[in-house]
Amino acid sequence: MIQLDIEKVYGFVPESEITALKGEMERYNRMLHDRSGAGSDFLGWVNLPGTVTEPVLESIERAAASLREVADVVIVIGIGGSYLGAKAVLTALSDNFDMLRTERENPLLVFAGHNISEDYFRELFAAVQDRRIAAIVISKSGTTTEPAIAFRLVKKEIEQRYGKEDAARRIVAVTDQKRGALKTLATREGYRTFVIPDDVGGRFSVFTPVGLLPLATAGIDIAALIWGAKDMEKATAEGVPFEQNPAMIYAAVRTALYRQGKKIEILASYEPKLRYIAEWWKQLYGESEGKDGKGIFPASVSLTTDLHSMGQYIQDGERILFETVLSVDQPEYSVTVETDPDDLDGLNFLAGKRIHQINRMAELGTMLAHVDGGVPNLRIELEKIDAYQIGALLYFFEKACGISGYALGVNPFDQPGVEDYKKNMFALLDKPGFEKESQAIKKRI
Ligand code: PA5
Repeated sequence: MIQLDIEKVYGFVPESEITALKGEMERYNRMLHDRSGAGSDFLGWVNLPGTVTEPVLESIERAAASLREVADVVIVIGIGGSYLGAKAVLTALSDNFDMLRTERENPLLVFAGHNISEDYFRELFAAVQDRRIAAIVISKSGTTTEPAIAFRLVKKEIEQRYGKEDAARRIVAVTDQKRGALKTLATREGYRTFVIPDDVGGRFSVFTPVGLLPLATAGIDIAALIWGAKDMEKATAEGVPFEQNPAMIYAAVRTALYRQGKKIEILASYEPKLRYIAEWWKQLYGESEGKDGKGIFPASVSLTTDLHSMGQYIQDGERILFETVLSVDQPEYSVTVETDPDDLDGLNFLAGKRIHQINRMAELGTMLAHVDGGVPNLRIELEKIDAYQIGALLYFFEKACGISGYALGVNPFDQPGVEDYKKNMFALLDKPGFEKESQAIKKRI
């Protein structure tokens, strides 16, 4: 199970100040369980891992197996919460150089519908020209523009190559049970569909088929992922007291630091495989907390890489930052630095040491430097990067997000601000129904 270490925060916020938030955090956690707070219609994720039973996993594995049979490349279409969970877990649990492997047991997943780049589409279709393809299209609302455009193009490509009947076997839709254009289309075309529960919002949907179907298709152990999430669900449940509840402690520390003027949280990791976990985390916290003129801005760095680009600011820039490090205790492999007879690079002092030991010392040295520079530091330690630990980590972040959103006094489960760019874009594109906005906005460009 993952460990949370907050000792290096005490120089900035005394332990007593964090403990004083105990009652508040327990109340917010209770509100998530008894559904008495803001956004209570979207709390299905709280007990979700516990509801993912064997038969649920088996039906997802069956659909994944049928896609594996027909495709070398599966195009996964979605954006935001319908994209980042699968991308994050897949990247964390895949070989760093997965894209260079020529032989693979499971199809390669490529993502689309998370941008509107013409070059991206062009290059995607060129890259899969000689590969057998299939698609998983994911959209809760079924009306989001980016994935809808991508699906229109991918659907056409699949139908042209394989015919309409075979296309229906190569496309699986994950969407709302009843509503939305994607649901209508899936029913009409006879696609297999999986449902995103009504009470689970996009950024909290990684443990639904939104995350599980693409991951199972890529051969990820989704049972272990869910097992980790279930254990964390228990470890952060309503009755677990503050002192033993990592989600409440993380939420309390964030709350105390924010109230002290720390407005930016940087999620840092020394393992490049975790970079999309940070992207998923940024959406989770940014979309949940950033509203009503409030919220901690979630940022991320991949270290030591970014110490050579962002390190100066973190060490010495405006003191509104705190840092949460995702620390990995044991890598999968062991690589040792060897002695060089010439020692021209002066690195013989490292001979016999594992690369991981050097990475660890870089991590600890950086932590102390940042703390000395005025950046409070939290550490989340994973024993290793595997499906179980990642499942636990994601659920931990979700639970803490709900609690700290309530502590901030916002509804963590809506995202009204996301609509504004859409209105402007539709007006600029002359979408029917936006005529009035269209004239006004065009004058401003
Ligand atoms: O968290 C959210 O609700 C959003 O990020 C959505 O997931 C994102 O906008 C995609 O929406 P949809 O799944 O409806 O296409």
